[in-house]
Amino acid sequence: MGKNIIVLGAQWGDEGKGKIVDLLTIQAGAVIRFQGGHNAGHTLYTPKGKKIVLRLVPSGIIHDKVQCLIGNGVVFSPEAFLAEINELQMHGISIDDRIKISPACSLLLPYHVALDNARESGAKAIGTTRRGIGPAYEDKVARRGLRVMDLKHPESLKEKLFELAEYHNFVLTQYYHQAPIDALKVFDELLSMAPKITPMITDINRVLYDLHRRGENLIFEGAQGVLLDIDLGTYPFVTSSNTTAGAAATGTGFGPRYFDEIIGVAKAYVTRVGAGPFPTELTDEIGKKIAERGHEFGSVTGRPRRCGWFDAVLMRQVVLANSLSGMVFTKLDIFDELETIKICTGYRYQKEVFNIPPSDLQILAECEPIFEQMPGWQSSTYGLTDYQSLPIEARNYISRIAELIEIPIVILSTGPERDQIIPLKDIYSQSDLVFDILASQNKYIAYGEWSILAKVQRKKAFASGAYSGT
Ligand code: GDP
Ligand code: IMO
Ligand code: MG
Repeated sequence: MGKNIIVLGAQWGDEGKGKIVDLLTIQAGAVIRFQGGHNAGHTLYTPKGKKIVLRLVPSGIIHDKVQCLIGNGVVFSPEAFLAEINELQMHGISIDDRIKISPACSLLLPYHVALDNARESGAKAIGTTRRGIGPAYEDKVARRGLRVMDLKHPESLKEKLFELAEYHNFVLTQYYHQAPIDALKVFDELLSMAPKITPMITDINRVLYDLHRRGENLIFEGAQGVLLDIDLGTYPFVTSSNTTAGAAATGTGFGPRYFDEIIGVAKAYVTRVGAGPFPTELTDEIGKKIAERGHEFGSVTGRPRRCGWFDAVLMRQVVLANSLSGMVFTKLDIFDELETIKICTGYRYQKEVFNIPPSDLQILAECEPIFEQMPGWQSSTYGLTDYQSLPIEARNYISRIAELIEIPIVILSTGPERDQIIPLKDIYSQSDLVFDILASQNKYIAYGEWSILAKVQRKKAFASGAYSGT
């Protein structure tokens, strides 16, 4: 049987999901996006070191036999999608027959972008990506939205679009005092884009069913981060979709009981783009240093990201809300120069100490983080691929976090490229790689390899005597 793995951002986004999904795709038959839209910016590197930022296309696209599916939970901008496809083709990445789009995806249209911009220009801005995400989900929930399948039916598309235009133009002109959007122009543009998109419209449920029956491994790729979830995040400073694990089922039509692993991706520290509470935020020189070293600027908007210490209180809630089975820990290398490192282990509120965050944001705003301090390692971990070569201080930091969040850390990431990782557990087989290293006394994790996980498994088999190749 194949494994069905959900990969989620375990913080406020930009944790390095793209890199990790790309890495896990080495052994997968398909990668499926299930929520969000082109507010996402998932960075990965081709084997030749070319940087690619994906927005709507799932992060399996570099592996040329892997299916890339866009599930019904995604809000789909035809314009953004075609621009992205163009870019990928310019990088020499083949997309033939591999990208499939659910007919039930909601269409994200120019009205949504105009409304997002109008709202974000006012006093109540929450720092959205201004891509129209919120207004597109509003139309979906209000049951007046258009869907990808409408692109196949120009006559009814026109009728629905004109009705929608009347409504949105009223709001744009009368409430926001903005210029209206020409419905005929939007219609013509959709008609001109439709022939490139309609061949990719496919019943995703059926594709998933077939792949599952064939025993393929499937990766469900989350966008944003679970603290940006519309229900469970720091409302209203959130995105407009459910970003938590449950959305992998509702956003694809693949039932919850089929999932085997739910992996969270977290940075060694925390970042947040846009407004909203951030208990461990660093507004001092250390925060600046982390931001500079970590290149903490949004991959979609270029905005600077706010930085803070790792927050085990928030993470406990994240583990619980998503039933995470393992954690990937990225950007460990960004701490290489720090003398001391802090971890938030609790929140003090009046005379109480919280181990998980209060859901009342007013109380959260009054909470004071309780920090534990640990010595830094002050040497380079950049690109390390072997657990044994990590400085003891780095190993202690990782062990302490695993202890606080009570789930295993399955992969450490030590640089932006695919092979800059230290696999600790094989997610596909759940075997403990570090234990195997110690048991075999064999430093077998390969350097600079294209298929690191496959290599690791081969070496593991070699160490156990089951394989006699080189
Ligand atoms: P995503 O939205 O979760 O896919 O993350 P982004 O692509 O928005 O941001 C993560 C950034 O960190 C990207 O520029 C990655 O190339 C980079 N990155 C990922 N993992 C590591 C790591 O372990 N070390 C360093 N230095 N950079 C990393
Ligand atoms: P990836 O997938 C980080 C944030 C925005 C804003 C809030 C609402 O790359 O991790 P929206 O445009 O969604 O209505 O904005 O959500 N946000 C992200 N922050 N990474 C992302 O995506 C984000 N997508 C949205 O900054 O605070
Ligand atoms: Mg991102």
